[in-house]
Amino acid sequence: MSQGGIVIIGAGIAGLSTALRLAPAKVTVLAGAPLGEGSATAWAQGGIASAIGPEDRPEFHAEDTVKAGAGLVDPKRALHLAQKAPGQITWLQKLGVEFDVDSHGQLALGREAAHGKHRIVHAGGDGTGAAVMQALIRLAQKTPSIHILTGWFAQDLRVENGAVTGIVLVNGVRRAVLSAEAVVLATGGIGQIYACTTNPGAACGDGLAMAARAGAEMADLEFVQFHPTALDIGKDPMPLLTEALRGDGAILVNSEGERFMRSEHELAELAPRDVVARAIWRQLQEGLRPVLDARECFASRAPDKFPLIREICLQAGIDPAHQPLPLAPAAHYHMGGVVVDEKGRSTLKGLWVCGEAACAFIHGANRLASNSLLEALVYSQNIAEDLAGKVFTGPPSLRQMPDIPNPDVENEKELRVELRRLMYDRLGLVREKEGMTEALKRFAEIASTLSPHTRLSSQLLVAGMITTCALMRLESRGAHFRLDYPKTSSIAKHTRLTFSSFRKNAASYLDAAWPVENAA
Ligand code: FAD
Ligand code: SIN
Repeated sequence: MSQGGIVIIGAGIAGLSTALRLAPAKVTVLAGAPLGEGSATAWAQGGIASAIGPEDRPEFHAEDTVKAGAGLVDPKRALHLAQKAPGQITWLQKLGVEFDVDSHGQLALGREAAHGKHRIVHAGGDGTGAAVMQALIRLAQKTPSIHILTGWFAQDLRVENGAVTGIVLVNGVRRAVLSAEAVVLATGGIGQIYACTTNPGAACGDGLAMAARAGAEMADLEFVQFHPTALDIGKDPMPLLTEALRGDGAILVNSEGERFMRSEHELAELAPRDVVARAIWRQLQEGLRPVLDARECFASRAPDKFPLIREICLQAGIDPAHQPLPLAPAAHYHMGGVVVDEKGRSTLKGLWVCGEAACAFIHGANRLASNSLLEALVYSQNIAEDLAGKVFTGPPSLRQMPDIPNPDVENEKELRVELRRLMYDRLGLVREKEGMTEALKRFAEIASTLSPHTRLSSQLLVAGMITTCALMRLESRGAHFRLDYPKTSSIAKHTRLTFSSFRKNAASYLDAAWPVENAA
């Protein structure tokens, strides 16, 4: 076994909660960006789902989670998640997070799409993520067992004799290897490989590419959730207009003044996220430019309920109390990821995965809003408990490697724009075989021109794996909708993939093989 102790890659809610829960065991947290930056967690607006209202029960929360996931949620794990939720809220309160309360001093509970009850706990109105991150960072910085390493990005996992022994890091053209005995991958989502996304710059799937090349199993990669209401003001990433606005009465109206969600679903604006996102997409395709009318949320009722969104709108020259908000659906959350068991263990020895990078079979084909911060909290606890009994030999050591050749930055920038556009147009809300196959061919073509040691080549691999899984799923289910296979099959199956089965399957859609990439 190598030396190096526990290394956590990523410093969002998944990474920092795991580190704190492992204390006083020593851990190194590799944060690509300075703490608080580059993390989706800090941007979370809606809140954290927890069945704590007088008429709610964890069983109801689990049922809603299973229903939203369209046949692909493990009911036992959904129940475990829901049962653990109230304890996670208490843990965060002990860390100093001040959740919003109602006039009786009880936690104020919001409502979001496809939740049968009011059960979303939030802080600062629409500032839950920022409040949670502040508390986690404050405590992590004060905890002597946590060593934070910034500046380096993880690029690959080192594997010897079937077990993880270290991480290849990059910093510009510099490379190094950090030794590790146990790695917790907490690198977040993939939204940034799409042209329209709510995700921060670091969310480009590095973790999935690393885990895949190292041999870990992936599942359900084709399920990418689009948030229906991202503010369309030409910004990248696009600011989110939280679903809580619709929970608070905001409505969707098209350019002809029609409240189109009424004819789409009995729950209208509070229908499941994929239903609302596709309805908006269709309106956009028909040139009927939909908007979110949230004037009442900002004007008469509670002007300070959504301070972050108000500020974002005002900065863009829109007064949300008097003007409707232009919107478009944007890639928001990845349901698929690295397969993990109840303890957060991947199929690769020495690798645990937490947060959005993992696929714990809790969100299925469509995640229920405000369940992802919760999943990261619950699994950080499970992982910490699993690692607690193990003995590690020592702190990680950093060994320099030869520099990588200077990348062609300008060319890569252009190729990245093309990748993101192809993903949004061909692997977005509506998919079909021809468009996806063309995209896959182009991804392989670009990948064959690049050195495997670039972030772009990892992004192409992630795009290639998502596309292959989407081609393999010959049905429509949850977030995955195919024009050529519009029906949902009676049997719900997971799509499982390893790097070698990806290459085999991709080759069946390509005229050539996917370029070989091995873990460094
Ligand atoms: P992140 O918080 O994204 O953290 C990932 C970390 O990994 C970052 O520190 C990043 O810098 C680091 N990293 C990435 N790649 C590398 C690398 N190669 N090397 C080193 N470090 C790396 N969910 C809810 O439950 N409720 C909500 O209200 C909610 N609102 C949301 C609003 C927005 C705008 C967005 C984008 C998402 C929202 N979500 C919400 C989803 C939720 O925020 C995320 O799923 C969750 O925060 C993911 O946490 P994480 O720790 O896995 O990843
Ligand atoms: C939102 O606030 O609409 C996003 C919540 C989530 O993605 O869970």
